[in-house]
Amino acid sequence: MTEKKRTHTCGELKVADQGTAVVLMGWVHRRRDHGQLVFIDLRDRGGMTQVVFNPGRAADAHQLAKTLRSEFVVAVRGKVELRDAELVNPNLATGEIEVMADDVEIFSDAKTTPFPIEDDITTAEDLRLKYRYLDLRRPQMQRNFRLRHNIMMAIRTYMDGNGFTEVETPFLTKSTPEGARDYLVPSRLYNGQFYALPQSPQIFKQLLMIAGFEKYFQIVRCFRDEDLRADRQPEFTQIDIEVSFPDLDEFFSMVEGLMQAIWRVRDIDLEVPFPRMSYREAMDRYGSDKPDTRFGVEIQDFSSVFAEAEPSLFRELVESGRTVRGLVAPVAYSRKGLDEMDAFVKQLGGAGVAFLQVNEDGVRAAPPVKKAGEAATKALIEAAGAKVGETVFMVAGERDAALAHLGALRLELARREGWIPKDKWHFLWIVDFPLFEFNEDENRWDALHHPFTSPLDEDQDLLESDPGKVRARAYDLVANGLEFGSGSVRIHSRDMQARIFRRLGMSDEEARSRFGFFLDALEFGTPPHGGVAFGLDRIVMLMAGGSSLREVIAFPKTARAVDLMSESPSDVAGEQLDQLGIRVKKK
Ligand code: AMO
Repeated sequence: MTEKKRTHTCGELKVADQGTAVVLMGWVHRRRDHGQLVFIDLRDRGGMTQVVFNPGRAADAHQLAKTLRSEFVVAVRGKVELRDAELVNPNLATGEIEVMADDVEIFSDAKTTPFPIEDDITTAEDLRLKYRYLDLRRPQMQRNFRLRHNIMMAIRTYMDGNGFTEVETPFLTKSTPEGARDYLVPSRLYNGQFYALPQSPQIFKQLLMIAGFEKYFQIVRCFRDEDLRADRQPEFTQIDIEVSFPDLDEFFSMVEGLMQAIWRVRDIDLEVPFPRMSYREAMDRYGSDKPDTRFGVEIQDFSSVFAEAEPSLFRELVESGRTVRGLVAPVAYSRKGLDEMDAFVKQLGGAGVAFLQVNEDGVRAAPPVKKAGEAATKALIEAAGAKVGETVFMVAGERDAALAHLGALRLELARREGWIPKDKWHFLWIVDFPLFEFNEDENRWDALHHPFTSPLDEDQDLLESDPGKVRARAYDLVANGLEFGSGSVRIHSRDMQARIFRRLGMSDEEARSRFGFFLDALEFGTPPHGGVAFGLDRIVMLMAGGSSLREVIAFPKTARAVDLMSESPSDVAGEQLDQLGIRVKKK
């Protein structure tokens, strides 16, 4: 090859380039032999170009082209020509042209790949993860990571434009409690001592406020050893933000602007401000603190209907302080459908779901509803506003459990019935979370967010007397039923921080040994401050239209926290363990 300098990518040649001499480099996507002519689709990060080898034009190149296989890496020199009208490929950006090859050089051959490098493959995910570098060659994955990059650029530009400074915080740290287990890193110099990988930079960003930065952000990796799901990875990336002297309205609108900037990457205009809803209202209306508000079918309280019913189970439950909540599905279900919904709620740990169905020829209802009497049935239909062809589903019991089960049922029904509109973005802030939640197993109050969250001023008196009632100055950002951001105004007084640690069951000695440095820092002039962190991976996943974080993390772990490609975690040499002073006790 005389000229090895690459002139173009495989995605950019157009009709206007007709006659241009070009050098392309990339992977052989496919080779087709058509009698005399050999065609290859050449692929690189820019796209795909068809290359034609004609023995009449370049006999040697044609000979070599016959040996090419998928995923060989080659350079091709040739000339851009227009395709005949009937051969134009409208699905390809370069579909109007092809390159007539004069010369080809093979940089690397390739074994047959374990799965095709195509977008629509049904290959088991484990195999894709084992050969992740091949999986990442697929055009969809290339697009996902380009999108991720563009989003990160948009974030940095926006934050910089708003006066924020990106500061890196350490990975080898003392553990910060965010509710999950820590990944620990043993110290070689201090055998028996450990660093923790940060679950988030929470304490560091607060220290940066004490340090006077006022507006901090960071796109930062976090590590959590927790049960994994499609939307959870052991290492993930946060857009972490903290400001001093916060005005909540201003802060929310700064964040809304950030979301607009991110969504604009996909040419989507988000309407701001986002609505705000209290935690209590979200639970009561949707049975979830991350409600999907793209569809209605809200939960209603039918307790008063049953309070006045004939003596029956539901009346007894209401009289004993329990509740009957329900929702109206605009669908008439068969026996089988009703049984399936009942089984769905039972599998969540509930007692099941009762129903009432309004049909043309009368009303059909589950026994506990029927037993409540005809007047109650009528009152229920009226209260629910149920029309012919609709079904009222009801769960009776403790309020929180009933709401949670109905919330899950609501989503299950929406999934089955296709109630969720595509291409809609419903953002909302959830505010006024409880500060604590009761941990039944440990018989103590835990922080719902984390222990640095400030209580509402007006609820401070309840801290000792009625902790369950204390509301937090905390907020979540929810979109389309997914929580992807969470934050709060922080405690900036040392005394209040110590009081909260105590309330969480931590002795003063324990608080000192875990957070002494932080309690000390609070005494040197701490500005009021607050912030938020967003899950970058979740945002990219939503915007890429994927349903798993693995589609937007280059080298992710499986649900069992394993990297199938490099096979980690793995054993280490005995010598390494000796240096760390560690002896392994096999479980
Ligand atoms: P939180 O723990 O709610 O808050 O985390 C913030 C956001 O990070 C994302 N996220 C995850 N994404 C993928 N995999 C995980 N395992 C995972 N865990 C969390 C979610 C979540 O909304 N320090 C506080 C923030 C603050 O108060 O400023 C924090 O980390 O999208």
